[in-house]
Formats: sequence, structure tokens, C-alpha cells
Amino acid sequence: MVQKIKALPAIGLIDISKRYGFGEQAIDALKNIHLEIAKGEFVALCGPSGSGKSTLLNILSGLDNPSSGSVFFMNKSLANLNENQLATIRSQHLGFIFQFFNLIPVLSAFDNVYYPLILNGYHTKQQAQALSRDYLNRVGMGQLMHRKPGELSGGQQQRIAIARALVHQPAVVVADEPTGNLDMKTGEDILELLQTINQQTETTFIVSTHSTQLKDRAKRVIEIQDGELVYDSIR
Ligand SMILES: Nc1ncnc2c1ncn2[C@@H]1O[C@H](COP(=O)(O)OP(=O)(O)OP(=O)(O)O)[C@@H](O)[C@H]1O
Ligand SMILES: [Mg+2]
Repeated sequence: MVQKIKALPAIGLIDISKRYGFGEQAIDALKNIHLEIAKGEFVALCGPSGSGKSTLLNILSGLDNPSSGSVFFMNKSLANLNENQLATIRSQHLGFIFQFFNLIPVLSAFDNVYYPLILNGYHTKQQAQALSRDYLNRVGMGQLMHRKPGELSGGQQQRIAIARALVHQPAVVVADEPTGNLDMKTGEDILELLQTINQQTETTFIVSTHSTQLKDRAKRVIEIQDGELVYDSIR
């Protein structure tokens, strides 16, 4: 019998715990989290404010260390990597989208996408320009790419940030409350855009939210409460 080969996980978290502070002040932000996310999945990470969503995203993307447990990114243990190697993983294989967009205000929308890409050092000027234009078109910002962030609406700024997160074609995109600062309709449009990109590419998405918007539409929903994984829709 031919065995179906299971897709290698993009991310594996094994028994992850995170404690902030010491003694009586200590906060257990994550408690014994086990989680595997396969390549190409679109995962909604839900939970109330303070439940540990940002902590989990920071740990799975190597921005923060767990207090115990192991993190695997594309089958490599992050524990064995030095700061330079971690930085390389982040700049090549990860894309980040934030609640407050984090665009550089003095640069045009185009340059906000183009400069990080050219600084990565893997593309010529021409390639980086073509890729930046391509991704700005994909997020519907082709016409407005010469404006500065301050001349764009919140939803438009988030589209620029999405182009920036995707332009280097990362394996995994981590979005921490990408719609948290947008009205309902704009938030819906942004989520639809992320899902369209997920379907068109093999990019894995992990998107945190404390609204119910994503819960109803993501293929996989994970919920954490008080640092514990209390629900996983594929289990
Ligand atoms: N650097 C830190 N030092 C101490 N405690 C922290 C730190 N970062 C987070 N915490 C605590 O860890 C817990 C989880 O925080 P986290 O930011 O991960 O929650 P969250 O689910 O992202 O919340 P929100 O929806 O409000 O963004 C909270 O109790 C928080 O106060
Ligand atoms: Mg958070």
C-alpha cells in the first residue's frame, strides 16, 4: 500500500511554556503548548486580550525565546541557531504584519516595500523594483504607491504593509491583529486579501485576532485562553 506522505510542518511547537518575571510576580503567559502548522495552512489564532497570542507569535517566529520547550521552523530547531542565523531566517523566510502597520512615514509606499527587499541583499535593483511593483499591484496599491503613509487610509497602509511582508516570498507570514486598527468592512477586505494570497501561493499564514471576524472564515481556528491551547478545529 502506498502511504500518503504528510506535508512537513512549517512550524512545530513542542511543549512550549513562557514565564515572564520571577517569584510572586511571575506570569505564565504560555503553558505547555503543542502545535504543528503545515505548509500552506491559514490559521486563525484567537483568544481574549492577554491570553498569550502575541507571545506565541513572537516565539514561533524566533523573536522571543520560550522558557522551556522547542520551536521548529521548517524542520530546524531554533534553539541551535545563533542571533545571525535567526536574523537570516527572519529576513528570508518570514513576513510580519502588525496592528499599527509600522510603515516608515518619510518613505513612499513603494520605498517602504522596496528598501527592506534591497537591504536583504538577494536581489538586484531591477529585480527588487519589479517585485515591489508586482506586490503593490497585487494588494491593489499600484496607483497609490508614490504616496507617503500619512497620505493613505488605515486600510491602504495595511495593504502596503502586506506587500512589504510578502515581497521577499517568505514561507510563513505572521500577522498580529492585522485588522485591530481598522473598521469592520476594511478589516474584512484585508482578511479576504490575505486568504486570496494564501490560496494563490504556498505561503503559510498565522493570523491573530480577538474579533470573531476571522473565526468564521479561517479553515483552521486555534484558541488560547490564559496561556493554554483550549481549542484546535482540526483536532
Ligand atoms: N514583556 C512582558 N513582560 C511581562 N509580562 C508580559 C510581557 N509581555 C506580555 N506579558 C504578559 O503575558 C500575558 C500574555 O500577553 P500577550 O501580549 O501575549 O497577550 P495577547 O493575547 O497578545 O493580548 P492582546 O490581545 O491584548 O494583544 C499577559 O498577561 C501580559 O501581561
Ligand atoms: Mg497581542
